[in-house]
Amino acid sequence: MKVLIVGSGGREHALAWALSRSPRALKLLVAPGNAGLEEIATTVPIAATEIDALAELAEKEKCDLTVVGPEAPLVMGIVDRFQERGLPIFGPRKAAAALEGSKVFAKELMRKCKIPTASFTVHSSLRSAEAALASGRFPAVIKADGLAAGKGVVIARSQGDGLEALRAMLVEKRYGTAGEQVVIEEFLEGEEVSIFLLCRGRDYILLPTSQDHKRLADGDQGPNTGGMGAYAPYPRWTADLEARVRKLIIEPTLQGMETEGRAYHGLLYIGLMLIGGEPFVLEYNCRFGDPETQAILPLLEGDLLGALEAVASADGGPLPPIMTRPGSAVVVVLASRGYPGRVEKGLAIRGLDAVAELPETIVFHAGTRARGSETITDGGRVLGVTGVGENLIVALDRAYRGVAAIDFDGKVYRRDIGRRGLS
Ligand code: AMP
Ligand code: GLY
Repeated sequence: MKVLIVGSGGREHALAWALSRSPRALKLLVAPGNAGLEEIATTVPIAATEIDALAELAEKEKCDLTVVGPEAPLVMGIVDRFQERGLPIFGPRKAAAALEGSKVFAKELMRKCKIPTASFTVHSSLRSAEAALASGRFPAVIKADGLAAGKGVVIARSQGDGLEALRAMLVEKRYGTAGEQVVIEEFLEGEEVSIFLLCRGRDYILLPTSQDHKRLADGDQGPNTGGMGAYAPYPRWTADLEARVRKLIIEPTLQGMETEGRAYHGLLYIGLMLIGGEPFVLEYNCRFGDPETQAILPLLEGDLLGALEAVASADGGPLPPIMTRPGSAVVVVLASRGYPGRVEKGLAIRGLDAVAELPETIVFHAGTRARGSETITDGGRVLGVTGVGENLIVALDRAYRGVAAIDFDGKVYRRDIGRRGLS
């Protein structure tokens, strides 16, 4: 069995790690990969958005399955292009990836299917957007319609902030075509929970829930980032809440996508806000989340490869169940000084061998590169250190022991990952 993974972050390292635990003999290719992936896979220097080159690679290497990490190639239609060439691939087609690729599409689907979400308006002119902003409340949330590398959501505390964001999107076109339309929506305040679903049309498997930490600094301070850490499962997830999320959110979403002729196949990530115990959808993503994947996959005991293959295959039959182990997992992200802005690269990373000796501690590489026998930093988020244990306290202790053992100049991390889960 040969599998190609597309991407180069901690999420892709976690996917490669989880798939390589499959009982089947597996040859893994990753494009473009990182230093950690080089240890468990063959890496090929093709960027995640070079779709034709990736298809040629999958064809030449006779890959039995391709798994796509990041959203950009999915929204561009990598799945459609592979399928046209008869290449098996896991992920939503372009029309279904619009759940992440167009916030306007996602919000209109939610409205149509009566899925609980923040109330909203859609604008393509500054005039109408300004009027909506002036008549609404603050904070207000302003979102560019298209993909903006995690920078397309602005929480505007005042009219001035809001106008600045609207001008940047609609007039200065700072987000390119992604900002030609904007959504202005109500600010929701509550607990954020990430849910991951393996979907084949209306059939789906719910993976363990998790909670991300988006802000750079302790106590949810500082700028938004791609995610500084996560833990799974979310400890206040109850059977009753799950039943409501399935009935009010998951089932209408999958049904609605099928009705639209955009049946969803792949991983659907739903970002929820719980307000007084009631779930609302903040956003949909068409791929595994990062860093949440680095905490969720270590909790799976079943055959992830089999489940991904089942989702990717056209023929029916029920999706195989995936078992999860009891306990918790925590991932703490180690970033470079300056992240999420400009960072210095090429700094030596020490201590990776020592962490390999620690029990139930896994290091996933994100922005790393091999230089001779050394591993050096090569990006904003450098590593994710995951600890797994019988409960959150043990998992946290393991993750932070791993964090302490690793060093590089300018290492930045949060000291309070998972703390909310303890209270
Ligand atoms: P992104 O992943 O870039 O789409 O950003 C989504 C993030 O923005 C969420 O994880 C929330 O933290 C925040 N967010 C989005 N919509 C709202 C909302 N209506 N109210 C409050 N926060 C929001
Ligand atoms: N952890 C947030 C994301 O993957 O979008």
